[in-house]
Amino acid sequence: MEKGKISETQVKETEKKLDQFFNNLAQSVEPLNLYIPVNYIMSQGGKRIRPQLVLLAAELFGAKAEDAFYPATAFEMLHNFTLIHDDIMDNAPIRRGKETVYKKWNGNIAILSGDVLASMAMRQLLKTPCAPERLIEMSKLFLQTSIEVCEGQQYDLDFETQEAVDIVEYLNMIRLKTAVMLAGCLKSGAILANASQKDQDILYQFGINIGLAFQLTDDMLDVYADSETFGKEIGGDIQANKKTYLYLLALLRANETQKTQLQHYFSSNHYEKSEKFNAVKTIFDLLRCKEETEKKIDEYLVLAYQNIEETSLNVEKKEILKQLALNLSKRTK
Ligand code: IPE
Ligand code: IPE
Ligand code: MG
Ligand code: MG
Ligand code: MG
Repeated sequence: MEKGKISETQVKETEKKLDQFFNNLAQSVEPLNLYIPVNYIMSQGGKRIRPQLVLLAAELFGAKAEDAFYPATAFEMLHNFTLIHDDIMDNAPIRRGKETVYKKWNGNIAILSGDVLASMAMRQLLKTPCAPERLIEMSKLFLQTSIEVCEGQQYDLDFETQEAVDIVEYLNMIRLKTAVMLAGCLKSGAILANASQKDQDILYQFGINIGLAFQLTDDMLDVYADSETFGKEIGGDIQANKKTYLYLLALLRANETQKTQLQHYFSSNHYEKSEKFNAVKTIFDLLRCKEETEKKIDEYLVLAYQNIEETSLNVEKKEILKQLALNLSKRTK
């Protein structure tokens, strides 16, 4: 392999290994009603960004990919646990083009299979073959990440009915619910590779910045994604009265009539879906909320690039991180 490059073949091989692992994770294990949903969500795929981040960080700082496989899979399991529960909270019918767990089965099954997946994730992390000090570091980070995701998710729910939410509160909420997980994945890889404290911290900050960009993109895709490729219901956030970045921008830019209209639609759960979606999207379009969100995403991308420059990595490796940041912030699903 050319120094510093992660080849196509290598990426494909990793994807295959992850597929194999997740397809067999909970097959034919009893009680079936607990483990079939676990298997259902884990074998759906998704973008598998989180394990890729762990593996990439580990390799960039010189750890063996096979050792990083444990934290990589652990984080993906943790992520999928949060998705099972998130879909209950958000009343979401579709994920990755398939029925969500609570829709396909029911709420109780979704709660319990999510719970067991979270514990399986921690068990998986503890299998990492590394020095005990590093395992403790990774475990602390993993649990702190889980706690912060719950905090972010609670703010997200609170904001549905909280009338005034400012951008600073919003950014803190998405940092917690989304960015810390991406940051935690990168830092875990760096911890495993015994990277310097400084590199670990910079990589974490890089993860926060790409994570914020990632969630801003997610908010935008809720309204503007192509429904064929997106895999989630379009307009789910609008239907659930989520205080997304686009909504908060719209409120700031709206004239009195638009403001009253937005607040009227976001104060109830009883509007007809497409009527509400079209009315809100029309306001977002008029106020150029999509373009403004894209600008904000680019701002975080620039911050992420600055973080990369501060690491001790060589030029080729820095380029890999830049590509990663760019790809993540330009995603379409
Ligand atoms: C969805 O994450 C939840 C968010 C943080 C926006 P992803 O968009 O990474 O979902 P999958 O795993 O690829 O389906
Ligand atoms: C995701 O936020 C955050 C977590 C799952 C922890 P969203 O609710 O926006 O994610 P999607 O859009 O359902 O994937
Ligand atoms: Mg959701
Ligand atoms: Mg949510
Ligand atoms: Mg979303």
